[in-house]
Amino acid sequence: MLQNPLKAKVNVLGIGGSLRQGSYNRALLRAAQELAPDELEIRIFDNTTLASIPLFNEDVRQQGEPETVEILKQEISRADALLLAIPEYNYSMSGVLKNAIDWASRPPNESPLDGKPVALMGASTGISGTIRAQMHFRQVCTFTNMFPLNRPQVFVAEAAKKFNADGQLIDENSRKFVRQLMEALLDWTRVLHYGRQMTESSVQSSE
Ligand code: FNR
Repeated sequence: MLQNPLKAKVNVLGIGGSLRQGSYNRALLRAAQELAPDELEIRIFDNTTLASIPLFNEDVRQQGEPETVEILKQEISRADALLLAIPEYNYSMSGVLKNAIDWASRPPNESPLDGKPVALMGASTGISGTIRAQMHFRQVCTFTNMFPLNRPQVFVAEAAKKFNADGQLIDENSRKFVRQLMEALLDWTRVLHYGRQMTESSVQSSE
């Protein structure tokens, strides 16, 4: 639970669905860190840990969750909200991301995903900028009971033109949408933790 709607920082866990060294999606998470309001603190989930999560196997889970899965679930639990950078593979989300979410979702009655505010974004080298992958991910949100923001939607198409060689997001339009998404995630997280009325009255009383 957040301490105070206005004073407490909102802690966000960013997960990128690509293990690639030069991943545009991880670069997009770094852009979100840069463009987020001060009240939003984004921690990016460690790539090595993500890479070490085994393929989901219920038999393995029954024998005890792998340490990397425990770390993932703890970090999701501690976060007030999630920010997912979703690569598009064959018109859907990457297996890396889906596998991590599958682990985090079990057992369903103890899933740290349950009720979690979440913002989606994605970068792809194609012209649709992960639209299809993000739409598939919204189905995953339904079953896991995550609460995804509806808008703004951030689709970074033709990513090779939008990032420079250092992995910085240089496209002004994309930067604007990422900034708007982070502002919306801050509001959405506060609303879900406190309710719209309380958040609005807190804002007014502080003005
Ligand atoms: C892709 N890519 C891709 N792009 C797209 O816009 N739509 C798609 O369906 C696919 N499919 C696809 C499948 C597979 C197996 C690979 C490896 C790639 C291209 C993809 O967008 C590109 O590789 C991105 O750079 C992946 O994201 P990261 O690794 O840069 O974060």
